[in-house]
Amino acid sequence: MKSYTLITGASTGFGKALAIECAQKKMNLILVSLPNSGLVELGSFLKSNFKINVLTFEIDLSTKENCHLLYNEVKKSKGSVKYLINNAGVLSNGLFENLSEDYFLTQIDVNITAPTLLTKLFIDDFKTNSPSGILNVSSMASFFHLPKKQVYSGTKAYLLSFSKSLRKELKKYGIWVSIVCPGGMNTTTGLCLQNRKLGWASRQSILNPEDAARETLKKFFKQKELIIPGTINKLFMFLDSVLPTSIKNKLTNRAI
Ligand SMILES: NC(=O)c1ccc[n+]([C@@H]2O[C@H](COP(=O)([O-])OP(=O)(O)OC[C@H]3O[C@@H](n4cnc5c(N)ncnc54)[C@H](OP(=O)(O)O)[C@@H]3O)[C@@H](O)[C@H]2O)c1
Repeated sequence: MKSYTLITGASTGFGKALAIECAQKKMNLILVSLPNSGLVELGSFLKSNFKINVLTFEIDLSTKENCHLLYNEVKKSKGSVKYLINNAGVLSNGLFENLSEDYFLTQIDVNITAPTLLTKLFIDDFKTNSPSGILNVSSMASFFHLPKKQVYSGTKAYLLSFSKSLRKELKKYGIWVSIVCPGGMNTTTGLCLQNRKLGWASRQSILNPEDAARETLKKFFKQKELIIPGTINKLFMFLDSVLPTSIKNKLTNRAI
């Protein structure tokens, strides 16, 4: 069996940047995203340019059945997962009263259920490949209570809490769990446009996914528990710990 790094949501944005960074480190990859998103082409490109093994699976991870399907397909391909990067996520920026039921239920399935279930399904792989690791992609939104990001922030806060507890449980097997909480990143076109309209201070904190991925993987392999990419974002976290709530509320409302 070959050992792999499995990255969900690898077709674009932060997941794609993580995949390229891993490929440069000569890590074999299992890449997953929704169908018809250019994943197969990305896989072929990484395979031929970096001389690594790459398996691609176009699977919708919003159902329990499909998470099991992914696990079974990996086993059929004789793959074993050493590192799991739970990156796939459904973003949102809208008032709760305007979100459709289908939208936020899928968001909960992709952002919470899929990473939890995939972690459980591959747990024997992590034990076999120890030292091994799990990187869960949360968000700085997990620390703040932001209007227009209510369900999204809630899903990311779950991931933060789940990861910190699991890290304590799995340490004895030589498996570490890290959590990355990026601030804003210029990934989708929508986000790029939105980020341009931010105030000066918030704009300075926006990262390119490539820079965020480089810093994240460096710290992941140092087995850090919590990774906050970018100097300004670390400063925001420090200010969050010292400023009174009334001032923080004013600042976050203005930034949104
Ligand atoms: N961008 C930011 O500002 C920011 C900030 C903090 C945290 N994050 C987190 O970083 C992660 C990546 O975000 P991003 O900005 O790179 O997002 P993105 O560009 O929208 O990429 C999301 C990825 O997830 C995949 N995906 C979505 N739904 C899926 C499903 N049901 N099944 C399988 N794959 C699915 C997408 O596949 P397709 O391409 O096929 O649709 C895509 O590969 C997310 O977890 C997000 O919450 C982002």
